[in-house]
Amino acid sequence: MSTQALSVVEARDLTRRFGAVTAVDRLNLAVTRGEVFGLVGPDGAGKTTTLRLLCGLLDPSSGQAWVDGHDVSRDADAVKDRIGYMAQRFGLYVDLTVDENMSFYADLFGLSKPERGELMPRLLDMTRMGPFRTRHAGKLSGGMKQKLALMCTLLHRPRVLFLDEPTNGVDPVSRRDFWTLLYQLVKEGMTVFVTTAYLDEAERCDRVGLMHRGQLICCDTPSALKRRLPQVCCEVRAGNLRRAREVLAGCPGLWKTFLSHSFAEYEGGQRGRGVKGAGEVLFTVTMTNDQ
Ligand SMILES: Nc1ncnc2c1ncn2[C@@H]1O[C@H](COP(=O)(O)OP(=O)(O)OP(=O)(O)O)[C@@H](O)[C@H]1O
Ligand SMILES: [Mg+2]
Repeated sequence: MSTQALSVVEARDLTRRFGAVTAVDRLNLAVTRGEVFGLVGPDGAGKTTTLRLLCGLLDPSSGQAWVDGHDVSRDADAVKDRIGYMAQRFGLYVDLTVDENMSFYADLFGLSKPERGELMPRLLDMTRMGPFRTRHAGKLSGGMKQKLALMCTLLHRPRVLFLDEPTNGVDPVSRRDFWTLLYQLVKEGMTVFVTTAYLDEAERCDRVGLMHRGQLICCDTPSALKRRLPQVCCEVRAGNLRRAREVLAGCPGLWKTFLSHSFAEYEGGQRGRGVKGAGEVLFTVTMTNDQ
């Protein structure tokens, strides 16, 4: 049993090597119950490997992990009973409908008829996927596919939800919907461990761990992480992307511009939906302090 009884996910010196590559390098972290924890890092940082280690799908080279008080290496079955894992490429059956995909996973998880009778309509309602129940998964939009994958994962009634880049390639409005769903689940007592490469999504987490080349380089609340930045961060909105870039490039003291796709999420509603049509663009501009 872990010494930190309050943490629902804990890793101590967790390490995984693949030949010469150390995909996860002495990772230490503790996630408390009801937290939304985000693991953020670029391609190849070690996010998926970390999730797979925490879910007991991969053995560590060294170190230990606990989920909901169970040692992942020694008690993998107890861990698997308590978690939901939505893989980066979740296995949906494109030739099956939404209903059929859900029934397949309900069978896989051994849900009784009354259980699925209670849970499936609730999930369809929560995700607003009811009208698409008879649509083939292959014909769903990217955001809908992710919602279906989430529903299939939730059929397991997990206490801890592990999501590997769940909104990768999904449009901003669907991403916002997806996060609304996650907050709803947290309200109901779930702990969410999510990986993302989107910084605006990192801001939605209670705490964020920044991962680089297998190492957790810092871990804190999004606002505390921002305060650590020596630069000043500004947001700039513009209607003409090319022109805005030209103007910004000429600014003295400009350190970096980051084209954010999160405008829809900040604005919400009709204006948010106008993002694609109006071509309005939100930049995050980082200035050096002396400007
Ligand atoms: N099964 C494997 N065999 C060999 N190397 C692997 C294996 N799985 C991962 N790696 C290597 O480990 C490192 C971390 O990979 P991982 O998939 O965990 O990164 P990631 O942060 O999830 O990246 P991405 O954002 O692209 O999904 C990479 O260098 C990758 O090539
Ligand atoms: Mg990955």
